[in-house]
Amino acid sequence: MAEELLIVESATKEEQYKSLIPQIDSLIKDEPDLIANLSNITAALKQTFNFFWVGFYIVKGDELVLGPFQGPIACTRIGFGKGVCGTCWKEEKVMLVPNVEEFSGHIACNSASKSEIVLPAFKNSEVALVLDVDSDKLNDFDLIDQSYLMKIIKLVENLS
Ligand code: SME
Repeated sequence: MAEELLIVESATKEEQYKSLIPQIDSLIKDEPDLIANLSNITAALKQTFNFFWVGFYIVKGDELVLGPFQGPIACTRIGFGKGVCGTCWKEEKVMLVPNVEEFSGHIACNSASKSEIVLPAFKNSEVALVLDVDSDKLNDFDLIDQSYLMKIIKLVENLS
Protein backbone atom coordinates (compact mmCIF):
# COMPACT_ATOMS: atom_id res chain seq x y z
CA MET A 1 0.00 0.00 0.00
CA ALA A 2 1.22 3.49 -0.82
CA GLU A 3 2.13 5.40 2.30
CA GLU A 4 2.61 8.78 0.75
CA LEU A 5 0.66 10.46 -1.99
CA LEU A 6 2.79 11.88 -4.78
CA ILE A 7 1.46 15.30 -5.78
CA VAL A 8 3.08 17.26 -8.58
CA GLU A 9 2.47 20.81 -7.38
CA SER A 10 3.33 22.61 -10.63
CA ALA A 11 1.23 20.32 -12.85
CA THR A 12 -2.02 21.22 -14.57
CA LYS A 13 -5.27 19.95 -13.12
CA GLU A 14 -5.47 17.26 -15.79
CA GLU A 15 -1.90 16.10 -15.10
CA GLN A 16 -2.70 15.97 -11.39
CA TYR A 17 -5.73 13.77 -12.03
CA LYS A 18 -3.62 11.56 -14.31
CA SER A 19 -1.06 11.11 -11.56
CA LEU A 20 -3.66 10.66 -8.82
CA ILE A 21 -5.90 8.02 -10.36
CA PRO A 22 -3.37 5.14 -10.54
CA GLN A 23 -2.34 5.99 -6.98
CA ILE A 24 -5.95 5.74 -5.83
CA ASP A 25 -6.26 2.46 -7.74
CA SER A 26 -3.29 0.96 -5.92
CA LEU A 27 -4.50 2.34 -2.58
CA ILE A 28 -7.88 0.61 -2.79
CA LYS A 29 -7.52 -2.44 -5.02
CA ASP A 30 -6.37 -4.90 -2.34
CA GLU A 31 -8.60 -3.55 0.43
CA PRO A 32 -12.08 -5.09 0.61
CA ASP A 33 -13.59 -2.64 3.11
CA LEU A 34 -15.73 -0.03 1.35
CA ILE A 35 -15.60 2.61 4.10
CA ALA A 36 -11.81 2.36 4.36
CA ASN A 37 -11.53 2.83 0.60
CA LEU A 38 -13.99 5.73 0.39
CA SER A 39 -12.12 7.38 3.27
CA ASN A 40 -8.79 7.19 1.50
CA ILE A 41 -10.31 8.43 -1.76
CA THR A 42 -11.68 11.56 -0.08
CA ALA A 43 -8.36 12.15 1.68
CA ALA A 44 -6.41 11.74 -1.58
CA LEU A 45 -8.73 14.18 -3.41
CA LYS A 46 -8.53 16.71 -0.57
CA GLN A 47 -4.73 16.43 -0.37
CA THR A 48 -4.31 16.86 -4.12
CA PHE A 49 -6.84 19.56 -4.94
CA ASN A 50 -7.65 21.05 -1.52
CA PHE A 51 -11.36 20.94 -2.38
CA PHE A 52 -13.56 22.86 0.06
CA TRP A 53 -15.62 19.73 0.69
CA VAL A 54 -15.34 16.27 -0.83
CA GLY A 55 -17.22 13.21 0.28
CA PHE A 56 -19.61 10.39 -0.34
CA TYR A 57 -23.28 9.97 0.43
CA ILE A 58 -24.40 6.34 0.56
CA VAL A 59 -27.89 5.14 -0.44
CA LYS A 60 -29.62 3.63 2.60
CA GLY A 61 -33.31 2.92 2.09
CA ASP A 62 -35.01 6.07 0.81
CA GLU A 63 -32.23 8.45 1.88
CA LEU A 64 -28.63 9.32 1.21
CA VAL A 65 -26.60 9.07 4.40
CA LEU A 66 -23.32 10.92 4.91
CA GLY A 67 -20.28 8.73 4.37
CA PRO A 68 -16.54 9.39 4.49
CA PHE A 69 -15.69 13.02 3.72
CA GLN A 70 -13.11 15.76 4.14
CA GLY A 71 -14.12 19.31 4.96
CA PRO A 72 -16.56 21.10 7.24
CA ILE A 73 -19.35 19.15 8.96
CA ALA A 74 -22.24 18.43 6.61
CA CYS A 75 -25.91 17.41 6.45
CA THR A 76 -26.22 13.76 7.47
CA ARG A 77 -29.31 12.75 5.48
CA ILE A 78 -30.65 13.82 2.08
CA GLY A 79 -33.95 12.58 0.63
CA PHE A 80 -34.46 11.07 -2.82
CA GLY A 81 -34.70 13.92 -5.33
CA LYS A 82 -33.65 16.55 -2.75
CA GLY A 83 -30.81 18.97 -3.31
CA VAL A 84 -28.09 18.39 -5.86
CA CYS A 85 -27.13 15.01 -4.39
CA GLY A 86 -30.69 13.69 -4.22
CA THR A 87 -31.29 14.90 -7.79
CA CYS A 88 -28.16 13.10 -8.97
CA TRP A 89 -29.55 9.93 -7.37
CA LYS A 90 -33.03 10.41 -8.85
CA GLU A 91 -31.90 11.35 -12.35
CA GLU A 92 -28.97 8.90 -12.28
CA LYS A 93 -26.64 11.41 -13.89
CA VAL A 94 -23.75 13.72 -13.13
CA MET A 95 -24.83 17.12 -11.80
CA LEU A 96 -22.44 19.98 -12.60
CA VAL A 97 -23.67 23.11 -10.84
CA PRO A 98 -21.65 26.29 -11.56
CA ASN A 99 -23.67 28.40 -9.12
CA VAL A 100 -25.52 26.61 -6.33
CA GLU A 101 -27.75 29.62 -5.72
CA GLU A 102 -29.26 29.07 -9.16
CA PHE A 103 -30.05 25.42 -8.44
CA SER A 104 -33.57 25.25 -7.12
CA GLY A 105 -33.63 23.09 -3.98
CA HIS A 106 -29.90 23.19 -3.36
CA ILE A 107 -29.15 22.14 0.23
CA ALA A 108 -26.71 24.58 1.80
CA CYS A 109 -24.77 22.47 4.26
CA ASN A 110 -22.29 25.34 4.37
CA SER A 111 -22.96 28.88 3.20
CA ALA A 112 -19.43 29.17 1.77
CA SER A 113 -20.19 26.56 -0.88
CA LYS A 114 -20.64 28.21 -4.31
CA SER A 115 -20.32 25.50 -6.96
CA GLU A 116 -20.62 21.76 -6.90
CA ILE A 117 -20.28 18.53 -8.88
CA VAL A 118 -22.03 15.30 -7.90
CA LEU A 119 -21.48 11.92 -9.60
CA PRO A 120 -23.45 8.70 -9.16
CA ALA A 121 -21.86 5.28 -8.63
CA PHE A 122 -23.92 2.24 -9.61
CA LYS A 123 -24.16 -1.27 -8.19
CA ASN A 124 -26.46 -3.76 -9.93
CA SER A 125 -27.75 -0.97 -12.21
CA GLU A 126 -28.92 1.16 -9.26
CA VAL A 127 -27.28 4.19 -7.68
CA ALA A 128 -25.43 2.92 -4.60
CA LEU A 129 -23.67 6.12 -3.58
CA VAL A 130 -22.74 9.56 -4.86
CA LEU A 131 -19.50 11.51 -4.81
CA ASP A 132 -20.05 15.19 -3.97
CA VAL A 133 -17.36 17.83 -4.44
CA ASP A 134 -18.01 21.43 -3.36
CA SER A 135 -16.04 24.60 -3.99
CA ASP A 136 -16.12 27.98 -2.29
CA LYS A 137 -15.61 29.55 -5.74
CA LEU A 138 -18.21 29.98 -8.44
CA ASN A 139 -17.92 27.86 -11.59
CA ASP A 140 -14.98 25.87 -10.23
CA PHE A 141 -15.67 22.53 -11.95
CA ASP A 142 -15.53 21.63 -15.61
CA LEU A 143 -15.54 18.65 -17.94
CA ILE A 144 -11.97 17.78 -16.93
CA ASP A 145 -13.14 17.30 -13.34
CA GLN A 146 -16.17 15.41 -14.59
CA SER A 147 -14.25 12.99 -16.78
CA TYR A 148 -11.53 12.19 -14.22
CA LEU A 149 -13.90 12.00 -11.25
CA MET A 150 -15.88 9.52 -13.38
CA LYS A 151 -12.75 7.37 -13.56
CA ILE A 152 -12.64 7.38 -9.76
CA ILE A 153 -16.33 6.41 -9.73
CA LYS A 154 -15.49 3.47 -12.00
CA LEU A 155 -12.83 2.34 -9.50
CA VAL A 156 -15.44 2.53 -6.72
CA GLU A 157 -17.95 0.57 -8.80
CA ASN A 158 -15.37 -2.17 -9.34
CA LEU A 159 -14.87 -2.66 -5.61
CA SER A 160 -16.43 -5.87 -4.34
N1 SME B 1 -25.21 20.76 -1.40
C1 SME B 1 -25.60 19.39 -1.39
C2 SME B 1 -25.68 18.84 0.00
C3 SME B 1 -24.45 18.20 0.47
S1 SME B 1 -23.27 19.23 0.94
O1 SME B 1 -23.02 20.31 0.08
C4 SME B 1 -21.93 18.55 1.58
C5 SME B 1 -26.92 19.20 -2.09
O2 SME B 1 -27.59 20.17 -2.46
O3 SME B 1 -27.30 18.06 -2.27
